[in-house]
Amino acid sequence: MKGRSLARADTEGTRGADHPRTTLDRYRLAAWIYDAATAAWSGGAIWRTRARCLDRAAPGSTLFLPGPGTGRLAVEAARRGVQVTAVDRSPRMLARCRRRAARAGVQVDLRLGDAREAPLGSPHGGPHDTVVLEHFLNVFPRPEMERVRDRMIQQVRPGGILAVADFAPLDPQASGLARLAQRLHHVTPLGGCALLTGNAMHPIYDHGLELEGRPDLRLEAVHDERSFGLGPAWFRCWVFRRLEGPR
Ligand SMILES: C[S@@+](CC[C@H](N)C(=O)[O-])C[C@H]1O[C@@H](n2cnc3c(N)ncnc32)[C@H](O)[C@@H]1O
Repeated sequence: MKGRSLARADTEGTRGADHPRTTLDRYRLAAWIYDAATAAWSGGAIWRTRARCLDRAAPGSTLFLPGPGTGRLAVEAARRGVQVTAVDRSPRMLARCRRRAARAGVQVDLRLGDAREAPLGSPHGGPHDTVVLEHFLNVFPRPEMERVRDRMIQQVRPGGILAVADFAPLDPQASGLARLAQRLHHVTPLGGCALLTGNAMHPIYDHGLELEGRPDLRLEAVHDERSFGLGPAWFRCWVFRRLEGPR
């Protein structure tokens, strides 16, 4: 609650078996430069697509945010009165997130651990009104990404929202040159992250196309944002509604 409590970080309860206290924090350095690097690389488009993920999150509703990084979106959601639970495996990122929440005077339930292991039915395992995957899925190689994405869909309550912010897929109508430029625009930061943090290298994931036709999801909105407001629209937010009934 604004002005009352600050971020709470559970540093014990959610640590996965493969993340003991001694695990190297590969985001240690990235945490310092992450906000500036993403803002400069996208001319603000990354943030604008991330912010779109909150479009349908009502005050008082619950939101799960795996991999919140430095916590800008987590804090923005909390400012809007949303009850946020965020799980990050990087202590450094989590510390930044915690400080940001404290500065803003909002409460965010912050947990150190592996978000893939969030058990359904636990406080952070949902089901939640909204699950936001902001530049989280692109950390993983294809088979793992699909498993994580499936798992995160299960964390959304029927009728709730899954919002994904990521690189926009290649435009099949674009010229070969434009597609090459878009590929380079994707592979450059991905390569930097791979070196710095060990993230996977992979082609751009098209979550809209890949999740199309799932009986448990309906695509409700797609938002593309232009770099510096007038460049190419190479970042996207997809908003899905989880439908009633089993997959
Ligand atoms: C590319 S950054 C994205 C940060 C933030 N969501 C954003 O859009 O700015 C990925 C984040 O996910 C975290 N992360 C990676 N794998 C994770 C996992 N298995 N469980 C929890 N957090 C994870 C990293 O520590 C990092 O903070």
